[in-house]
Amino acid sequence: MAGYTDPPYRELMKEFRIPVLFTEMIDSHALVHRNDKTSKMLGRRDQQLFTQIAAGTAVLADGALSVLLEEDIRGINLNMGCPAKKVVSCGGGSNLLRHPTIIRDICRNVRKRASHIPFSVKFRSGWDMTSLNFLEVGKIFEDEGVDFVILHARTRTQAFSGRAHWNHIRMLKDHLRIPVIGNGDVVSYETAKAMVDASGCDGIAIGRGVIGNPWLYLQAAAALEGDAPLKEPSIDERFRIITRHYELILDYFGSRLSTHIFRKHLVGYLKGLPGQKLVKEELFKDEALSLERLKDVLGEYFLALKTGLSLPNVAPKDLAQTA
Ligand SMILES: Cc1cc2nc3c(=O)[nH]c(=O)nc-3n(C[C@H](O)[C@H](O)[C@H](O)COP(=O)(O)O)c2cc1C
Repeated sequence: MAGYTDPPYRELMKEFRIPVLFTEMIDSHALVHRNDKTSKMLGRRDQQLFTQIAAGTAVLADGALSVLLEEDIRGINLNMGCPAKKVVSCGGGSNLLRHPTIIRDICRNVRKRASHIPFSVKFRSGWDMTSLNFLEVGKIFEDEGVDFVILHARTRTQAFSGRAHWNHIRMLKDHLRIPVIGNGDVVSYETAKAMVDASGCDGIAIGRGVIGNPWLYLQAAAALEGDAPLKEPSIDERFRIITRHYELILDYFGSRLSTHIFRKHLVGYLKGLPGQKLVKEELFKDEALSLERLKDVLGEYFLALKTGLSLPNVAPKDLAQTA
């Protein structure tokens, strides 16, 4: 996910034993021009890592692939689902769903040149509800040698709103022999199980639900394997993961950029906890948050949550009210 699954995040995710991870979507133009910021998005070439690119033409995808093969990537994923205007207007992301011939050209070339590494595609149900073509393009992927597909079961017009159509995942699963990974609206063990039951999908890809809740990966794995739900993480475990995450961000990006990068993760980690607004206010004051300061403020807050003690300036009853 753009802005989230950067190299420090992926390092942290090793603790969650995720079988497949994706980079943020990388713009092929930027790759071809060897933009520094883009190179930093690539990170370590771990075995389970798929590098995701967006390209609107076979020529551009080919240029980006040349750079990535030099970089010794371990897996390639093509984004044919991004709804963002700036991606669509360059012909890439979900725009490709309107051009199956270009999809075929891109996939054929990628498969030929990257025959030694796994190749997957992420796509949507179609451009809009009047032009659903996930079965047609899914078959193109299979015919062109894509190893597995991830279907975000929404249309481009839906963007991220409305419900994902899990019945599309079921239809695709019935239509193809290659593995079909379902995506859209998994936010808990229960929704993961419901998606598996509804669609028969071979795996689950999760987007927004894991922001601040990486434990959801473990819940989804349990649902896929038919196991019972796991216990929610303890306060101590949350503290360990949040502070480790920030440590990894600081190591990778340095103190100047890290505070800004971390904020959105912190918002996710604290979401729904009583009194979290005050903690955010306190931590967001700092333009260059140190790891020690994070540990102090968060430690005090979590201790208050665990023991029912009051936070400075906040009575215990207000912890609930400020949630
Ligand atoms: C902030 C944000 C960034 C995203 N970036 C990417 C991306 O880089 N590549 C991608 O394939 N999907 C990206 N997505 C889409 C998600 O991976 C996912 O397909 C979508 O959110 C639906 O799944 P969900 O309901 O589990 O969130 C992004 C979504 C959001 C909200």
